[in-house]
Amino acid sequence: MADSSQGLHEEASELSALTRDVHRALVSLQEELEAVDWYRQRAEACRDGELREVLLHNMREEIEHGAMVLEWLRRRDATFDEHLRTYLFTDVPITEAEEAATGGTEETGPDTTAAKQAEAPPVAASPVAAAASVTPPQQGLTLGSLKQQDREVA
Ligand SMILES: [Fe+2]
Repeated sequence: MADSSQGLHEEASELSALTRDVHRALVSLQEELEAVDWYRQRAEACRDGELREVLLHNMREEIEHGAMVLEWLRRRDATFDEHLRTYLFTDVPITEAEEAATGGTEETGPDTTAAKQAEAPPVAASPVAAAASVTPPQQGLTLGSLKQQDREVA
């Protein structure tokens, strides 16, 4: 059995196809990030300059692979989409990104994530998938999308 199937915590027959694919993506992301770490350490310790460049090239390839898998996840999970839009490609301090994106209402206001997910139709008929908030991302106005609009206008 492939590694991506071995880490299941429940019987595969109990899981939707989407949840099994999300598991495959999460395992792949873990593997890509682990490879980035390994290549970076090997390159830094390597005494041969040419081999170091090969190892750094490979590390950069693994970063690309990880980014591709992360984007696949973002396109299928509304919570990934929401948080990546909040925290990625911003210039504000990371710990202030949420407040900047929500206008400071997130900390004191009600948790709107659950309400938004309850409104969103689940992709799979599985109640498990719905409970796991595996729904397609909603297009909304976030700091990330606003910055993207700025870049497209400029
Ligand atoms: Fe890779």
